[in-house]
Amino acid sequence: MNVLIIGGGGFVGQKLARALIERGELNGKSINSINLVDVMEPGAIDGGSIAVNTSICDITDTASVAEAVTADIDVIYLLAAIVSAHAEEDFDAGWSINMMGTLNVLDRARELGTKPRVVFTSSIAVYGGEVPDPIIDHTFLNPQTSYGAQKAVGELLINDYSRKGFIDGVGFRLPTISVRPGKPNRAASSFMSSILREPLNGQEAVCPVDADFPHYYLSPRKCIENLIKGAELKAEDLGQNRCMMMPGRMWTIGQLIDAMNAVAGPEPAKLIKWEAQPEIQKIVKGWRFDLRPEKALKLGLTADESFEDNVRYYIEDDRP
Ligand SMILES: NC(=O)c1ccc[n+]([C@@H]2O[C@H](COP(=O)([O-])OP(=O)(O)OC[C@H]3O[C@@H](n4cnc5c(N)ncnc54)[C@H](O)[C@@H]3O)[C@@H](O)[C@H]2O)c1
Repeated sequence: MNVLIIGGGGFVGQKLARALIERGELNGKSINSINLVDVMEPGAIDGGSIAVNTSICDITDTASVAEAVTADIDVIYLLAAIVSAHAEEDFDAGWSINMMGTLNVLDRARELGTKPRVVFTSSIAVYGGEVPDPIIDHTFLNPQTSYGAQKAVGELLINDYSRKGFIDGVGFRLPTISVRPGKPNRAASSFMSSILREPLNGQEAVCPVDADFPHYYLSPRKCIENLIKGAELKAEDLGQNRCMMMPGRMWTIGQLIDAMNAVAGPEPAKLIKWEAQPEIQKIVKGWRFDLRPEKALKLGLTADESFEDNVRYYIEDDRP
């Protein structure tokens, strides 16, 4: 079993590779190699008995995709993307990477004729606008950002390339992953990790929305578990739409901070500064939070029990 992680230098890609190495198998078959490709050289990981190869691949370039996606690959995790605020600022790059890049990877798989399992990371940003709550898996996609629109097109491609038998695809609309380690990124949701991560690391952070702002979250640990289960789902269980929400839970910013207080005491929260940022608010207030991920729950994917778990996982897994 050979696994290719496109976007393998990113946050999810690196964690996923480590989790796959620890597990050693996928779908009952031993993993022989994990191939991490990214537009930037991915961080090297010691795979023990599993060969971990790293290389550069730009998914907007078909020749580069052809080098990375080869006939011996059984499972492709297609994670490469630019995130929400970045895609909003740079319209051309968003469509070129998030949409055309996805098409390039799927076309390469079609050309090879090997029908790999492709696990695609969509986003809850595909939902939005004037659709009634609650949002269920087959609520119509009505993205209110370019990023959401690019992910929605990616989902249609996953479904059509699967229907034609070119790939065996599955897509998950990821909740916002928090607490995300590392530095703030260019996602509009970046503050949803930094208001916890920076204070837990003893640094100040800015919260651009009010404490009653609700949103839909999942911890990195659960996200990775679900992505691994996602690669193992049987095609016949996926139905006519292979894309679905990944389970998460709705909490307000105030509840996130209460959870941090419960796990780490009252000091970290004193490092949060409250400063309204209209540009960020414009994007994040268009996102939906009353989500019912019934299909994924039925298929055995899970959410965190409490946000206190998310805080604990950050301290156990990622705090420097
Ligand atoms: N983290 C979240 O909260 C979240 C939420 C919803 C959806 N997602 C989706 O999950 C996936 C992984 O997210 P992440 O948090 O690891 O993001 P990330 O930014 O850490 O990783 C994405 C990787 O894609 C790479 N990339 C960008 N352009 C590329 C190109 N042209 N060719 C090849 N690689 C390229 C980047 O260099 C980066 O390493 C993305 O598709 C993202 O849209 C993430």
